[in-house]
Amino acid sequence: METKVFTKDQLEEAASLLKQGHLVAFPTETVYGLGADALDEEAVLKIFAAKGRPADNPLIVHVKEAGDVEEIAHTNKEFYLLAEAFWPGPLTMVLPRKDVVPDVTTGGLDTVAVRCPKNAIALELIKRTGRPLAAPSANRSGRPSPTEAAHVLEDMNGIIAGVVDGGHTGLGLESTVLDLTSERPQILRPGGVTLEMLKGVLPNAESGKVAKGEKVKSPGLKYKHYAPKAPLYRVLGTPEEQFELILDQIKNHPEKRIGVMSTEEFFARYPTDYKISLGSRSNPLEIATNLYSALRYFDSLDVEFILSETISGEGLEVAINDRLNRASGGKTLEDFLKDIRG
Ligand code: TXA
Ligand code: MG
Repeated sequence: METKVFTKDQLEEAASLLKQGHLVAFPTETVYGLGADALDEEAVLKIFAAKGRPADNPLIVHVKEAGDVEEIAHTNKEFYLLAEAFWPGPLTMVLPRKDVVPDVTTGGLDTVAVRCPKNAIALELIKRTGRPLAAPSANRSGRPSPTEAAHVLEDMNGIIAGVVDGGHTGLGLESTVLDLTSERPQILRPGGVTLEMLKGVLPNAESGKVAKGEKVKSPGLKYKHYAPKAPLYRVLGTPEEQFELILDQIKNHPEKRIGVMSTEEFFARYPTDYKISLGSRSNPLEIATNLYSALRYFDSLDVEFILSETISGEGLEVAINDRLNRASGGKTLEDFLKDIRG
């Protein structure tokens, strides 16, 4: 299959492919999504095949405005309050679903995740298709999410019907997923709409921590995610300590190709070519924006290991740490010290 690349002026063609049940990737304000008609079972099955995604990992359904959710889910007051505050924007809400939504879209759950993206191309595409669009991040399962059309093509060229090129997405981290079906609104995946922001509207919102032995509410969370080809290790400590620890490893292992994911503050001081700066510690938005393309950059450098500085904080930093933690599979410098000895 030839994957067509559309500009923002060719949305009619892209919408027509979607209406025919084909897959078209498109930009949102977070990452590129791999779109299909959310109510067309066969089209949705193609998403799972193209991504190599486990069938029990449900998809987010994208709508052009809050009112459109009535067709697919049972809404409530909290939903409309949050939609009013944060839509269009990087907030996904989980609601009880209606029967028109096929089982494949929700991974067999009786809930459905809905979101209205803040991106003119995405909104126009939904409008012209006239259907809600199911869209997971447009990467092969397990890989870093795409923040540019070129990343989508890296993973999906020849596999999907098209991609609309809208340049870099902006925020660069997926939406916050909030469960509105439990007693208290619960964050299942941290993202651009932070706990503090949610609490401003619903004071009882909480960050979801899965207790041991409890069933994972967001099935996607149990799978490997965002992984570059080389193993990634997080380095903890104060910023200066992190720098010293990474520097030691570069010096101790000159024969190894060790990639360094750095902040702007320390970037120039690492004596290696295998490095990239995510941005300044004082600007988490910049770090969020650059994270996934940085992970993909290390693939092109062909490094053997990646050591990453880490940041701490309460806002967007929570989402950044969540993604870094999962990209590393929970591994830290201690694991690196074992792994490098072979
Ligand atoms: O920013 C985003 O959310 C991007 C753009 C394209 O909109 N989409 C995205 O989709 O990140 P995906 O499929 O990569 O991640 C969806 C997450 C998964 O963790 C999935 O398990 C969770 O949302 N999810 C979807 N439906 C759910 C449901 N009914 N209940 C609980 N979690 C759900
Ligand atoms: Mg994803």
